[in-house]
Amino acid sequence: MIITCPHCKKQHNIDEKRIPPNVKMARCQGCGQQFPLDIPRETPPPTAQPPKPAAPPLKSEEAAAPSWKPSQETRRIGVSLSKGGVGKTTTSVNLAAGLALAGKRVLLVDTDTQGQSSFMLGVKPKGGLTEMVTGELPPEEAIVQARKNLWILAGGKSLAGLKRLIDRKDYGGELTLAQALTPLEKDYDYVVVDTSPGWDPLTVNVLFYVNELLTPVSLEVMSIQGFGEFLKSIASIQKFRKEVQLKYILPTFRDMRVRKGTDFLEQLEKLYGEKVCTPIRYNIRLSEAPAYGQTVFEFAPGSNGAQDYRDLIRKVTGEPDLFT
Ligand SMILES: Nc1ncnc2c1ncn2[C@@H]1O[C@H](COP(=O)(O)OP(=O)(O)OP(=O)(O)O)[C@@H](O)[C@H]1O
Ligand SMILES: [Mg+2]
Repeated sequence: MIITCPHCKKQHNIDEKRIPPNVKMARCQGCGQQFPLDIPRETPPPTAQPPKPAAPPLKSEEAAAPSWKPSQETRRIGVSLSKGGVGKTTTSVNLAAGLALAGKRVLLVDTDTQGQSSFMLGVKPKGGLTEMVTGELPPEEAIVQARKNLWILAGGKSLAGLKRLIDRKDYGGELTLAQALTPLEKDYDYVVVDTSPGWDPLTVNVLFYVNELLTPVSLEVMSIQGFGEFLKSIASIQKFRKEVQLKYILPTFRDMRVRKGTDFLEQLEKLYGEKVCTPIRYNIRLSEAPAYGQTVFEFAPGSNGAQDYRDLIRKVTGEPDLFT
C-alpha cells in the first residue's frame, strides 16, 4: 500500500504485512519526521483457524527484541511533565525508595540525560538503560541494586545515543523502551520511570510503555500553564494508546505563605478531584538529601518532605496503614 507523509507529502510504498500490529508510528525517509501509521488490519474470522506464520520482522534490532506483551501484575508509573524543575526526579526517587521501604520490589528507570536519579541514590552504575538496549551490558549488569527492594536502571549522557537509535528506526521506534523493559518487569511490583523535561523521542517511548502517569505540578503560574500543554501532548499519544492515563497530579513546592499557591491548588482540585494528591510542601531537606546520596527517608525521616512522600505512597498503593 502507499502511505503519504503528512509533513512533506512524500509517498512510501510499504508492505503492511511486514509491520507488526503494535507499531503505531512511522518515520518519513524524506523529511525524517514521525507520523501516525493508520493501517487497516484484517479482523480475524470468528471460527478457529490454524495460526498463520508470523510476518518476518523488519530489522535485525526488532528480531532481537522480544515481543511486547504487557504484564498484568507490574504497575508501570511514569513521572512526567514537560516543564523543568517541578520535582520529577525528587518524586521518582522518593516514591521508588518509599515503595521499596514498604516491601514492594521496585525498578527505577531514569530516562533523563542528566542522570540524576542514580546520583540522588548515591550509586554509580557502569552503564544503564542505553547499554542494556544496545546489548553492551546484559540486564543483570545494567540494573544495579541501590537499596533493599530497590533497583535502578540509570540514565545519563549515553541516552543521547539511545535517542539516535530510536530516531533511526523507520517503524516502531516508540516501542523501543517497552520492548526492552517488558521482559524484565515480572521481577518487580512497580516500575517507576523518571522523565526529562521537554518532549523528545524518549518521552514518547515512556508514554508508550507506562500505564499510569504521575505528574508533579509546582504551584506556580508557569507550571500550571505547562500542565495544560502537557495534557494536550498526552491526548495526542492516547489516540494510539488509550492505556496510558493521567492517574495522579502531585502539587509540589507547596508554600503555605503564598496565597497564589492555595488558589492554584483549589483550581486543580476543582478540575481533577480525586486525582490530585496531598501536596508536597516546600522542604529544604528534600533539596539537601541528594548531596549525601540519600533519600529523604534516610536523610530526614521526620521532615515534612518525608511525611508528604509517605502520604503519596499510601495513595499510590491504596494502603492507608502503611508506615504507621
Ligand atoms: N518540595 C521541595 N522542596 C524544596 N526543594 C525541592 C522540593 N522538590 C524538589 N526540590 C529541589 O528542587 C530542584 C528541582 O527538583 P527536581 O530535580 O526533582 O525537578 P525535576 O522536575 O526533576 O527537574 P528537571 O526537569 O530538570 O529534571 C532540586 O534541587 C530539588 O532538590
Ligand atoms: Mg529531573
